Order: sequence, then C-alpha cells, then structure tokens
Amino acid sequence: MRIPLIAGNWKMNNLIHQGVELVLKLRELTKGVNEVEIVVAPPFTSLYHLKFLLAGSPIKLAAQNLFWEKSGAYTGEVSAGMLKDVGCEYVIIGHSERRQYFHETEDAVNKKLLAAIGAGIKPIVCVGETLEERESGKTLEIVKFHVEKALTGKTGLAQGAIKDLTIAYEPVWAIGTGVNATPEEAEEVHNYIRELLFELFETNHAKDVRIIYGGSVKPSNIDSLMAQPNIDGALVGGACLKAEDFARIVKFQRA
Ligand code: PGA
Repeated sequence: MRIPLIAGNWKMNNLIHQGVELVLKLRELTKGVNEVEIVVAPPFTSLYHLKFLLAGSPIKLAAQNLFWEKSGAYTGEVSAGMLKDVGCEYVIIGHSERRQYFHETEDAVNKKLLAAIGAGIKPIVCVGETLEERESGKTLEIVKFHVEKALTGKTGLAQGAIKDLTIAYEPVWAIGTGVNATPEEAEEVHNYIRELLFELFETNHAKDVRIIYGGSVKPSNIDSLMAQPNIDGALVGGACLKAEDFARIVKFQRA
C-alpha cells in the first residue's frame, strides 16, 4: 500500500517569517486530510523554527540537500545527523538544480542517499531527462542511469533500506517552465522506474517505493496526474509557495 506523498520544495524562497505564515495557512487549509502525507522542504534557515511550529501537526519537514560525511572540516555543509536533529523526516537528493548549478554527480547522489538512510532520514531522490535528451529519444536510458547509479552506486543498497525511499521523476524541461509532462508521458516513465525497481530489489520491497512526479505541478493538472496507477504523489516547486494552491494539490481528486 503506497500512501500518496505531496512534497513542497520551497527552493531558495521565504525568509523565516514568510515561511511561518505559509505553514500556518497550510496547516489550516489541510486540516482533516489524513490519507495523504504532506511534506514541506524549506531552506535550512527556517527548519529549526518550523520544527516547533509543526509539532503535533501531520505536516512533515524535509531538507533540500545534505552532505554525506558525519561531521568535520566541510565548511558550509550540513550532515544527515544535523537534519535529524532539526526535525527533518525527509531530504531531497539530486535535484536537477543541484546537478546543474553545483555539479552534483551520480556518485555524490549515491553517497548522500546512503548517508540519509544511515541516519534514519527518508530520501526523495530526483531523476529525469533534459529536453535535449527527450528529443533524442534518450528519456528511459537517462532515467535508468540515474536510478541505477543512485541506488546501487559503488557501495550498494541493502534490500530492506529501500522501504523508506521515494523517487521523484522530474523531467528537467518541465521544472519551472509551466509545461508539465502529460499524465501519459509521466506514467510511461513511472512504470519503467517501477520495472527497474523490480529488477533491482525483491518484489515485496520494490512494490512499496513511492514514485512521485515533479515539474510544473499545479492545481489544474494534479488530478489527472494522480489518476495514473504509478504516480504516487508530487514534488511541487512554484505552486507550493502559495498555501491555497499547495493545499488544493494536497487535496487532489482521484478520477
Ligand atoms: P516546479 O518545480 O513545480 O516549479 O516546476 C518542481 C521542482 O523543482 O521540484
């Protein structure tokens, strides 16, 4: 049984007081929703404050990144243990913006994933092709590469560890562009990822991994995306910055 997961990636937006305002509204607007897991991923600077604000609420905290080492001389970095300490249950790993602007490699994604799992934080691993890759017919090849490298990499991933894993399929061309993958386009890739998981892991573990879609998700397209059998939720960027829009996405209607 896969419980739908709707996560809001705030990216580098919202000062602390703006984040507080957003979360207070969201708490109000999503009252009574209990069949969907709701996650917000604010910038590091707001996590501590929001941990207290969200105590006792079903809305969970995620970080947008982490570093794989436990502690030490890594100026500017934040460890998985620190995220746990500040109340994060989830962490986003390998977002295309991190791959693009911070040159994050498959190896780094793999190490971050293992560090998160090791600290008891649930990873949301982002995979997806660029427009050029899609246009040259390489979508599935790229997605396979991202998934396999993230999950097996150098060190390998224990069978049982994947129960807490979420994969976010985020076609790069759909992120922040207003152009989403159609539900059918997304479903084709999600279904493919599911098959890959069945190849890599035992069925009883692979079947429970949530595969969520990200890339211009909004109130007007969430219902048709969620109607697909292998779309288990959404990673929402732009639309999660408005409480009303994010709440409507959380309250998606299944066809
Ligand atoms: P978007 O971003 O919803 O603004 O397209 C999604 C993401 O980057 O996770």
